[in-house]
Amino acid sequence: MSERPAFTPHDALAGASRFFYTAKASTADRNAGLPATMENRHPTVKPLDLMQYLCKLTRTPTAGTVLDPFMGSGSTGVAALREGRDFIGIDKEAEHAQVARERMAGNAPMFNRDISTPEEAA
Ligand SMILES: C[S@@+](CC[C@H](N)C(=O)[O-])C[C@H]1O[C@@H](n2cnc3c(N)ncnc32)[C@H](O)[C@@H]1O
Repeated sequence: MSERPAFTPHDALAGASRFFYTAKASTADRNAGLPATMENRHPTVKPLDLMQYLCKLTRTPTAGTVLDPFMGSGSTGVAALREGRDFIGIDKEAEHAQVARERMAGNAPMFNRDISTPEEAA
């Protein structure tokens, strides 16, 4: 029986430039775009600069729609809109979805003329 070659990840020799280093989401990041009466209390908010980098990286020739099925407070949505991408977000918690809507509307108002919930829109 032949011996298996040692496992070598395809990017084992890659340098630090392959990685995107950023700080945790700041308070300013968390609450960017929210009205003064709202606070983003989501426990795992992602940094906007990281999400914006990923939206840039995954852009297709026709831009493409960004889908975040676990949207939380909408950091991916804010980043997608800042990058001029369409965005679809899903979250099972209505409170998170509302914070996400407000953050997106406050960050990219030109792209968000309607932030009403489906119930409000009906
Ligand atoms: C890690 S958090 C996302 C945080 C987000 N990236 C942000 O910056 O705010 C994951 C989210 O997935 C949601 N979630 C978990 N299970 C879900 C499910 N089955 N369907 C939809 N959303 C779900 C949770 O409510 C939570 O807000």
